[in-house]
Formats: sequence, C-alpha cells, structure tokens
Amino acid sequence: MRLLRALRPLAALLVCGALAVSCTEARSADSAKSGGPAGVAGVAALSAHERIVPAPASTAPGGPGYTLGPGTAVRATAGSAGAKRVAELLAEAWRPVTGLPLPVSGSDAGTGRDGLRLRLDGNAGAFGEEGYRLEVDEDGAVLTAHRPAGLFRGAQTLRQLLPPARGPWTLAGGTVTDTPRFGYRGAMLDVARHFFTVEQVKKYVDQLALYKINTLHLHLTDDQGWRIAVASRPRLASYGGASEVGGGPGGHWTQEQYRDLVAYAGERYIEVVPEIDVPGHTNAALASYAELNCNGIAPARYTGVKVGFSSLCVPKEETYAFVDDVLREIAALTPGRYLHIGGDEAHSTSRTDYRAFMDRVQPMVADRGKTVLAWHQLTGAQPAPGAVVQYWGHDRTTAAEKAAVADAARAGTKVVLSPADRIYLDMKYDRGTVIGTAWAGYVPVRRAYEWDPGAYLPGVPEESVLGVEAPLWTETVTNGRELEQLAFPRVIGAAELGWSKAAALDWDAYRLRLAAQGPRLDALGVRYFRAPDVPWE
Ligand code: ACM
Repeated sequence: MRLLRALRPLAALLVCGALAVSCTEARSADSAKSGGPAGVAGVAALSAHERIVPAPASTAPGGPGYTLGPGTAVRATAGSAGAKRVAELLAEAWRPVTGLPLPVSGSDAGTGRDGLRLRLDGNAGAFGEEGYRLEVDEDGAVLTAHRPAGLFRGAQTLRQLLPPARGPWTLAGGTVTDTPRFGYRGAMLDVARHFFTVEQVKKYVDQLALYKINTLHLHLTDDQGWRIAVASRPRLASYGGASEVGGGPGGHWTQEQYRDLVAYAGERYIEVVPEIDVPGHTNAALASYAELNCNGIAPARYTGVKVGFSSLCVPKEETYAFVDDVLREIAALTPGRYLHIGGDEAHSTSRTDYRAFMDRVQPMVADRGKTVLAWHQLTGAQPAPGAVVQYWGHDRTTAAEKAAVADAARAGTKVVLSPADRIYLDMKYDRGTVIGTAWAGYVPVRRAYEWDPGAYLPGVPEESVLGVEAPLWTETVTNGRELEQLAFPRVIGAAELGWSKAAALDWDAYRLRLAAQGPRLDALGVRYFRAPDVPWE
C-alpha cells in the first residue's frame, strides 16, 4: 500500500537542474559504456532475425534477402480493407526513412513475387487472431495470416528486419513463424494525474505497436482530474478536468477526440480499455457534483499526490445514477470488450460498503455489454462471472492478499499481471533516476524483464493469466520526454514477456537483442533510457 507517492527529489534537481540533460541521461552516457566490448561485440554479431523483439516463436534464417527499390510495391489480399490498411501503414512507416514510393495496392493478383505481399489465408486458422508467417527471399516478402491483426503484427516483424536508418534496404532472407503466448499485452497510461494530449498518446500508441502490444489501458479519472467529457454530467470535465498534480491547468478530451484516439489505436490492432476509477480516487467527481458526497458538500479540487482519501457515497441512490450515466456513455465510446472500474485503494470506503458498491456496479458494466476489469482489490468483494482482475502487488504484498487473487483464479477469474516492483513503469530505474517514484523499490531493466508471468503468482497458473500490462502512473511525469524515459526500454521487456514463449525468456540473450533496438529507437526519435545493464551499440 502506498500512502504517498514521492515527488522528484529536490537534491537531484539541485545537482542536475543546470544541465541541459537529466541526471539519468548524463549518468547513463557514461554507464552505457559499461556493457563492455564483449557485450557490444555480442550485439554486432546478432543476425537480423536474432534482433527481433519480442522473440518470435520460430525463425529459419537463410537464403538471399530482398532489397527494396524504386519498383517495390506493397500488395494486400483483394477485398480485405483490413489487409489494405495494414499495407498502407507499413508503407507509411517506411517511406520517410527509405525515400521510396512504395505504392500500395488492394490486390495481390499477378505473377511474380516482386515486392511485398500481405495475404489473408482462410485456412490458416492455426495462426489465430494475431499469428503470422513471414517468408523473405530474393523476389520479395510474403506475409500470411488468418486475420488482419496477424498481418499487422507480422508487419512489425518486417519493419524490424529492415535496417533502421541506412540503406541498402535489404530484408534478411528466411522464414519467421509466430504466435503470441498471451492474448493480453498491455500498457497503461495515467492521464489523470497529469493531462496528456491525444497527439501525445497517439505517439505512444505508435511506439507500443512496434513491439506488438495490443492493449492500451487509459486511467481517465482520479482525484486530481477527470479527463473525458460525459455529456450527461458536463461539470466532470469542465470543472473536474481543469486541475492536475502540482496545480497545472489539466485538461480533458472531448468524446470526438476520444473516439479518434480509439480508432487510431484500433487501426493498429490495439484495444483501448477505459478506466473510470470508483469508488475511491474520485475527488475530481466529488468536487464537480456535491450530491455525490455523503454530506452534500463538494470538496475543493485536489492537486497533491496522496491516495485513499476520497469515496463516492455508497448508500446514496444518486451515486448509482451517476455511475450508470458515466458507464453508459463510456461504453458507447468503447468498441473493446472491457470497462475498467478501478476499485483500488478505496481506503475511505468501509469493507461492507465496498462489497455493496461492487455488487451494484458490476452488473451495470454487463448491462452495457462489457466485461468488468478491475484492480485486484475487487477480490475483496465478489468478482462478477467473467470479471478480470489486474494484480498490482509486489514482493511485500501480504500472503493473504495474494491468496485472495489465487482463490479468485481458482473460481475462474482471469488475471492480468502488473506487479508493481517489476513492471510499474513509474518506478525509478535506480537511485540516479530523476523522474518517477520508488515506493515499490527501484526497477532496473533486468528486474523488469526477469520474471515469468505464467509462474509468477502462487496459485495463479498460466491458464488463469490473461496476460501482462505495464502501467505508467504520472504523478511525476509531465511530458512526452519523461514518459519515454520511464517507459523505454522497460515496456519492450513487458511486450516480450507477453508475446514470447517461456523458453525464449533469457536475460543474457535479451539484453543483446534489446541493445540492438537502440539504433531503431534512435531513428524513431524515442528518448529512451540508456540503461547501464544493456550493452547499447
Ligand atoms: C494502483 O497502483 N493503485 C493500482
């Protein structure tokens, strides 16, 4: 349990404040050398196929590769708008860096294999929703999948087979056959503690897509701000959204902006999970509508970083009319399966009230045709049939709390794993990190990677694990640069934990493959942390 999330240390600001770069960057410029010549040589020796992250299920490198040129076209299965759109996105990603025209056609008819072909194969059901096969030889590349999402994931592998920044633009020859280990591979962004624009989130979506993340969980509401317009409750956004940690102006997204973001993510086969955190973490709502408070008095807006002090008034009927209004509108904006209802750190709600509240609210989610997702404190109530809980405990979490999750798993509740001392992206890498918090300890890149989701939580076997998610809380994160410094490279490790087979998870091999991603991240302008435990090229 955390009572207070620390703001960035004053001492670090004093030491580094005058520098143009953060302490983390300044220090890591030195320590990047500590990967040592052996590590760097190990990276240089990796083949193009060995550099792919997440590690594919199987690769068979060999034969001549294909070199993209002025005549290269990208052709997609006739009649599939999804396949054509994947082809367009691939060409859009490659045109700026290669300078090639890469025309896209919605027909893969014609003789010859020259160029790139994206094929949907109705008989390739074994690939499932996201699997694919990629074959490259001197004539071109053929990407085959059962579903457009599989083509999109395979297109990310194609992108990683191309040199990151300089031609010749040769795709290495060989075959990749690939399916994911887990169906849920997520990242969460807290846009409530600090507001982020839709453009900033789209940029993060693009970065996540390259590593086959398929879920973006948006923490839309908290004590410090309400970020999504709700037409039936306009003050939530207009008043409750106009604040954030530290006293900045905050902000909110209109429903049109939100739909646009959801559609943008959807084109990249990333499902958006909206979170409305209730019954705690609700000061912004309580400040906006007095009737949601048991005493009928609206509190002031809040810009600090404490947690656990706010609660909707469980006995009042107005509370359920409110929750129903909000969930109805959010569900209507959500093509995805899940509505996340938070449920964490409700320290100002009695246990009895918490259970009563969840008994009323979970059916509202089902009534809107959606599935409940909630933080694992939902196991302190009765998870609805089909509900999914998100575990965010850590090594010091009590055995009883872990056992409650295991009991729920035994009863059929699926679990998304987000252990805070492994995969919370807001945890500092080490004591030199300026941005971030450390209430769950420091999380260096190695610690973020070296755990097995299928065997992590006692009593929660792999069959009960829906997948993994890397949350980024933003009490200390105010802009895109800070976001990228904390997320990258650790979110890439989370992507591999979610996608790659257990047998492929090996730190010594991963650190080399991750290092090989450095030039690609540089070419894309991702401002990642050059972690000292990785031998960056
Ligand atoms: C959480 O970190 N309160 C889910």
